Amino acid sequence: MSDVETTESVEEERARREEEIRKAGEEEKVNVNHRLTEWYKIDEQTWSTAQEVAPGSGIWVYRDVLPKEMDIVQRIEEVIDDPENDYFWREAMVGYQMKMPEYRDCVDFKYKRTDIEQDTSEHGDKLRQLHDDVHYRQLQIVKDYTRRYHIGELRYWEATNYVKYGPGQHFQEHHDHGYSYNCVVSLVAFPTDGYEGGELFFRLQNVSIKPKAGDVYIFPSNFMYPHRAMPVLSGTKHSMVTMLDFSEKYHMPEITQETDS
Ligand SMILES: [Fe+2]
Repeated sequence: MSDVETTESVEEERARREEEIRKAGEEEKVNVNHRLTEWYKIDEQTWSTAQEVAPGSGIWVYRDVLPKEMDIVQRIEEVIDDPENDYFWREAMVGYQMKMPEYRDCVDFKYKRTDIEQDTSEHGDKLRQLHDDVHYRQLQIVKDYTRRYHIGELRYWEATNYVKYGPGQHFQEHHDHGYSYNCVVSLVAFPTDGYEGGELFFRLQNVSIKPKAGDVYIFPSNFMYPHRAMPVLSGTKHSMVTMLDFSEKYHMPEITQETDS
């Protein structure tokens, strides 16, 4: 009799645990579905057109996302030009904070909103406002892109890197997700045009991009998307690069990385 009771008790216990797991799974499913529904919701269309650059390439251009009227470059230069602060253009690095001018020889300036949280000066306000203006408009197109490919939520956003290329300057071929950095999707914005050269070239897709001011390009970051920034021939090219990942899991503070294009 006691053996039967024990057996029943074990079976009941197993059934109870299975039911708990099933319920937890249901709840998780609801949570994930809820999060995804929220993530895919677009607050406002911040672009005029969205188009895949070549069929099946996964390289998309969203036009008029960051138009000239936003004065992005002027706003950055205003802050950097002022000698009263610590913001400056630095020689661009690659990989683990290495200077390799034969590989990449532009200048850049990157910041996250959290980097400037302590700066209560007018410059801090200006950078915060710029960040928010840019991020809101970027976020909408990232949601649109992730919805097209069922990528899901990209919770980790690397600091946006403002990059400036003068004549002769370039970035050799590389892909964005590699030994020194993890990312799923790369976002490259072009707040200005009016320079010669400086095309963004994807070798495997044989796609050469000569952006218009306001364009934002999104593409997969992995090894199938090696790309290079061709040398600028005349004028100044500005780009803004943001790398996105699913979570903070692979973004330890001591590891830094290239952000480019
Ligand atoms: Fe890149």
